[in-house]
Amino acid sequence: MEVLGIDIGGSGIKGAPINIENGSFVAERVRFDTPEISNSENMAHVVKQIITYFNWKGPVGVGFPAIVRNGVAKTAANIDKSWKETNVAELFSSISGNKVAVLNDADAAGLAELRFGDTYHNEDLVLFLTVGTGIGTALFYKGALLPNMELGHLELFGKDAELYCSDAVRKQKNLSRTEWAVRFNDYLMHVEKLLSPDLIILGGGSSKKFYKFNEVFSVNAKILPASLLNNAGIVGAAMYAHENLG
Ligand code: BGC
Repeated sequence: MEVLGIDIGGSGIKGAPINIENGSFVAERVRFDTPEISNSENMAHVVKQIITYFNWKGPVGVGFPAIVRNGVAKTAANIDKSWKETNVAELFSSISGNKVAVLNDADAAGLAELRFGDTYHNEDLVLFLTVGTGIGTALFYKGALLPNMELGHLELFGKDAELYCSDAVRKQKNLSRTEWAVRFNDYLMHVEKLLSPDLIILGGGSSKKFYKFNEVFSVNAKILPASLLNNAGIVGAAMYAHENLG
């Protein structure tokens, strides 16, 4: 069974057809820049381009950077505010003619990492984090996803945590990896106090450099870099569509 997976991120929109049984790419992925004005019209245009590129007639799964309930975007932290309350699934389905299922982007990446990655070994409480333009979070209890946790928006030092230690902040403030890791450790300590996860998996761009800064981390939980790296969001979105579109 093959499903087209699409991952909508702050800087890029990527897609590829996925083999659902083993999580592999059936064709090489395509990537387009996220439009500077990230409103529904511009983003839907890119999603359609990806579907057309693969001449895709089957189901499509989309990871979207917002709280998504029943296909509807409930927040818009790093995308155009007009997305709030948009039925994203219906919109992408109407412009393409395909059946489309939509979930939070971090939830998608976490689903794929736990199923096909090599970091998860049946720990009870697992927190999966993606650090990019924002901080995405996916929480799993005994392998089951608790969707839309949005722990990147926890308050830390009086502001939204992702405004303190996302990868975008590291770039804006010209922080060294270690300086950023010290900030990120503050965040991890805060999350650990609230949730006491058994395992924390760090995804997103910074996970590639994990062993350059992981000594800074002082949480009790086991903490590992994600093994599927940037492609997890595409795979997880396809898995979700397969399980939810019938
Ligand atoms: C959004 C989340 C998203 C994360 C990563 C945050 O700003 O609120 O929904 O998962 O960024 O893209």
